[in-house]
Amino acid sequence: MRVLPFMSKTALLPLLADGEFRSGQELADLMGVSRTAVWKQVNRIAAESGIEIESVKGKGYRIPGGIDLLDADRVRGALGERARSLLTRLEIQGSVDSTNSEVLRWVAQSGSSGLVCSAEQQTAGRGRRGRQWVSPYASNLYLSLLWEFSQGAAALEGLSLAVGVAVARALRACGVTAVQLKWPNDVLYDGAKLGGILLEMSGDAAGTCRVVIGVGLNVAMPREAAGAIDQAWTDVRSVSAGQPPGRNRLLAELLNELLPLAADFEQQGFAHWRDEWQALDAFAGEPVVLHTGSGQLAGVARGVDERGALQLETTTGVQSVYGGEISLRAAQ
Ligand code: BTN
Repeated sequence: MRVLPFMSKTALLPLLADGEFRSGQELADLMGVSRTAVWKQVNRIAAESGIEIESVKGKGYRIPGGIDLLDADRVRGALGERARSLLTRLEIQGSVDSTNSEVLRWVAQSGSSGLVCSAEQQTAGRGRRGRQWVSPYASNLYLSLLWEFSQGAAALEGLSLAVGVAVARALRACGVTAVQLKWPNDVLYDGAKLGGILLEMSGDAAGTCRVVIGVGLNVAMPREAAGAIDQAWTDVRSVSAGQPPGRNRLLAELLNELLPLAADFEQQGFAHWRDEWQALDAFAGEPVVLHTGSGQLAGVARGVDERGALQLETTTGVQSVYGGEISLRAAQ
């Protein structure tokens, strides 16, 4: 049996991204594989990703309308002055296990603040509470920012909530309004999940800690991939009033918000972000049930305090609930 050389969509799709026809032979030559291998790969990618690849006899293959791949130069060009001064490394990868893991692998070579990794695809994208984050190719945004903080974990209380506010601001700058937040850090539109935030922290809880701020945003989720999502979801394409913003613009706006947030958070604390978080709170005044590892707690959601703790009004008084592995749901 002949073993086909490994050829990934991260090699083939960039060659078709401009929407122009390329013959099977041209693609085969560029990639150093046979025409049959190109044909097989085209069929596999079309089936897996939902990206339409047109095949016309005598002309070759093309993606009608092209696809908007991420481009680090375009992202850099759309950054504001402050974000640009805080960014120390930006890389956009074709495929990676998890951008959170990747940015942590860079630390030894690249210092430890202002590192940003984004990718067209994650093969092992991580969500909160051990879930997978569905991360198909060239459809959504997956990004991780690494920052080093010096004042210990206590100074970082509420950081993940502030990240939610930053994501909502970035979406608003791109014309996506009416975004809401669900404590501790889901990004919602009309009750459906538009994005998620995963902070991973390492280091000295009382001194220098390194935090990876991971953000996943559904932009144009292919139906084929969405089958693996186990909760109500939506994407930027579905909630945009007019022409949806491009992913490069969205990524730049996210960095315009996230880099200054990371740089200033130890001085500002969550108190600086609290009012804005409350204005975006999807569950303010709503009956909710908190699911914790050890049981459930019912009450009415009354916003958050200056440390980002949920204020849950229960029959025995208001309880402050801190994040971690807790999930909040509307009461039935
Ligand atoms: C959630 O469960 O709501 C959090 C999802 C966070 C997903 C992002 S995508 C970029 C970064 N890399 C990961 O592996 N996870 C985060």
